[in-house]
Amino acid sequence: MSKCFKISPGGKLTGSIRIPGDKSMSHRSVILGALAEGVTRVSGLLEGEDILATIAAFRAMGVNIEGPDEGQLVICGVGLNGLRQPQHDLDMGNSGTAMRLLSGLLSGQSFPSCLSGDKSLSGRPMRRVVDPLTEMGAHISTAEGGTPPLQIIPVNGLRGIDYQMPMASAQVKSCLLLAGLYAEGKTCVTEPAPTRDHTERMLRGFGYPVSSGGSRVCLEPGFHLKATDMVVPGDISSAAFFMVGASIAPGSHIEIRNVGTNPTRTGILFILKQMGADIELKNERTVGGEPVADLIVQSAPLHGIHIDEAHVPLAIDEFPAILIAAAAASGETILSGAEELRVKESDRIAAMARGLTHIGVDVTETADGMRVRGGEIQGGTVDSHGDHRIAMAFSMAGLLSNTEIYIEDCDNVSTSFPDFQSLAESGGLDITVISK
Ligand code: S3P
Repeated sequence: MSKCFKISPGGKLTGSIRIPGDKSMSHRSVILGALAEGVTRVSGLLEGEDILATIAAFRAMGVNIEGPDEGQLVICGVGLNGLRQPQHDLDMGNSGTAMRLLSGLLSGQSFPSCLSGDKSLSGRPMRRVVDPLTEMGAHISTAEGGTPPLQIIPVNGLRGIDYQMPMASAQVKSCLLLAGLYAEGKTCVTEPAPTRDHTERMLRGFGYPVSSGGSRVCLEPGFHLKATDMVVPGDISSAAFFMVGASIAPGSHIEIRNVGTNPTRTGILFILKQMGADIELKNERTVGGEPVADLIVQSAPLHGIHIDEAHVPLAIDEFPAILIAAAAASGETILSGAEELRVKESDRIAAMARGLTHIGVDVTETADGMRVRGGEIQGGTVDSHGDHRIAMAFSMAGLLSNTEIYIEDCDNVSTSFPDFQSLAESGGLDITVISK
């Protein structure tokens, strides 16, 4: 049985909502809490399946974790050298973040391990982490084609490297920093464009020194992580669907409370504002070392733009939603320099281009992006390809479509946004879940 969404046309988004915790920060708080000395209490944790996979992995490695319960998690950290050999493969489900971050951490352990995943994750590229980890001295084997499962064999010590990342990836950067905790000498990573910096911020929050300057970040072994209390803000990537929905549906006025606004994540705000969106940040504050604000979004006429390639890594997870905004905008929107979208939970360029075409939008797919000519949105059936963000993005298109939109294969929405349907419904979207 798989879930399908039926979106009845029309409606607007109103009221005040609080979206679930940030996925990237939730993963990192579990990982660093487990490696810290002492008890870490996390609040605001995302209780999505991706995070449950990370929690299960650390439990399997002997870490005592209570919860999650209403976003609260208590982690009895075992210290950097306290993990134990798991008795089974560590199943990371749908989560690329969990697999890539853990591959770095596990490369530095004295026990063997195996990281596996679901069908989508089993097709995703892992050489981007395996190659630099191998340079550090790690011993990892993959399936043919450089995909999971990853078999990690213990080695007699890793060595730090100075790595120039070929792509802008926070997962690769974080993987290498976690491996660097166990390496001899300094580990440095230089990124071709800024990517989310939650790992660096959080390591410092746990008292571990990390130096950064320009596009380079470095750390050295020999320090400890000290348990701390972590407050995870709401996920701007989940807020994105509501920002777009409220922007395109006339008469909308919505408040999205407690959204993380780390500058490495706010590309969507630039892009939507450039398209004419009316988004205001209120109550800007710092929570747990991260900037947070409430967002007030009102509907506004949008127009197409050529998206600045410099904004692409800063909005990397938001393109499914942004492309729905483009479909509702007047004129043409051009996305380029976004080839990384082809290796997400689905090939998001292909999945969005096909889905938009099915609902009557004029789209031209390119190797690294697409052109979208905004106009009328029709009803139809769209395949989400099991990708949570594709499913949620097309749900918002229903606010403007002229007949129903059916979205297939929506089970994975619960990887990042378990309450999406009820929250969207409370905001004004006419969404029904059908089990097929
Ligand atoms: C993430 C980094 C990004 C993003 C993913 C979460 C992270 O992936 O798409 O959803 O938490 O580090 P890449 O590093 O592959 O760009």
